Amino acid sequence: MKKTILTGLRPTGNLHLGHLFGAGQNYVKMQDEYEFFLEIADVQALTDNFNNPEKVRKNVYELTMDLLAIGVDPHKVNLFIQSKIPEIAELTVFYSNLVTIARLYRNPTVKSEVSQKKELFGNDGESITYGFLGYPVSQAADITALGGEVVPVGDDQLPLLEQCREIVRKFNNIYGNVLSEPEAVLSNTSRLKGLDGNEKMGKSLGNAIFLIDSEETISKKVMDAVTDPSKIRKDDPANPDICMVYYYHKLVTPKDDLKTVCSECRNGDRGCVACKKELIKNLCDFLQPIKDRRKQYEDDPLLVQKILSDGTNKARERAKATMKQVKEAMKIDY
Ligand code: TRP
Ligand code: SF4
Repeated sequence: MKKTILTGLRPTGNLHLGHLFGAGQNYVKMQDEYEFFLEIADVQALTDNFNNPEKVRKNVYELTMDLLAIGVDPHKVNLFIQSKIPEIAELTVFYSNLVTIARLYRNPTVKSEVSQKKELFGNDGESITYGFLGYPVSQAADITALGGEVVPVGDDQLPLLEQCREIVRKFNNIYGNVLSEPEAVLSNTSRLKGLDGNEKMGKSLGNAIFLIDSEETISKKVMDAVTDPSKIRKDDPANPDICMVYYYHKLVTPKDDLKTVCSECRNGDRGCVACKKELIKNLCDFLQPIKDRRKQYEDDPLLVQKILSDGTNKARERAKATMKQVKEAMKIDY
């Protein structure tokens, strides 16, 4: 019996290189060994985008196509839409009795997200919504409804997994042993830095290269990237280890060429403009097969719909089976 993986992504924008190297490549590696449910978390996306439903709707399809483009195989992975699984919403209600409000306020993930969303939730989070505060509960419902045993997530999500495990233990203590505790596996072993040298590549930080970026866009972004500031003239020697251009060369440039980049930089035999141009070309070459695959799905929206509805049907069967056991245990199986 294969173990079950459940993970989710909020449909709020396109995938960038950080998503690919941090998580996406991992999904593709794991898809053969596990029964894999990959949730397009539209209900969760609405918790902080409730005032922008068009954005969420559009990105459900954008995200699905991005995932298929990076090699998520729809024959191996059940891609499903969260809002199409009503059992998740039902479970969220039942679990909400098992979590205190104080515990939710203390959740480090919630805390840091609220402080990043001052516009929506006020300076001290004084306008936080019930829905946003409670999204860890709904995420516990996602995981357990599908019987997720292994949950690949970034380290920022670990507190949510811990909260889920607490809910599971509390449920099992009160109602009997129905749910199993999921185990987190870190999927961003190397969080990708941004072009500006920021520790994290992110859409809101404006330092990301998206998988669908055109050559022109990539050129502009790379031309603005942060290099070794001590290098002023083209033949000044520099240190590639403090240069974001070199950091990205390491991801996409063939080994032998990479050695050349490194030694020429150190010896002052390479100008930054030429070095950036080489990176732009390598990034474009790297992204081309992803874009080609994406194009096949862009040209066939009915296929994308079918992939989502097949995945959703599989997810729904699982969630219904869980719900039956949960309701029996809670004595509400009328
Ligand atoms: N909260 C996750 C994020 O923002 C997305 C997510 C939703 C998720 N449901 C999940 C992750 C279930 C793991 C398991 O990235
Ligand atoms: Fe960076 Fe290349 Fe310039 Fe060296 S030559 S500092 S690696 S851009």
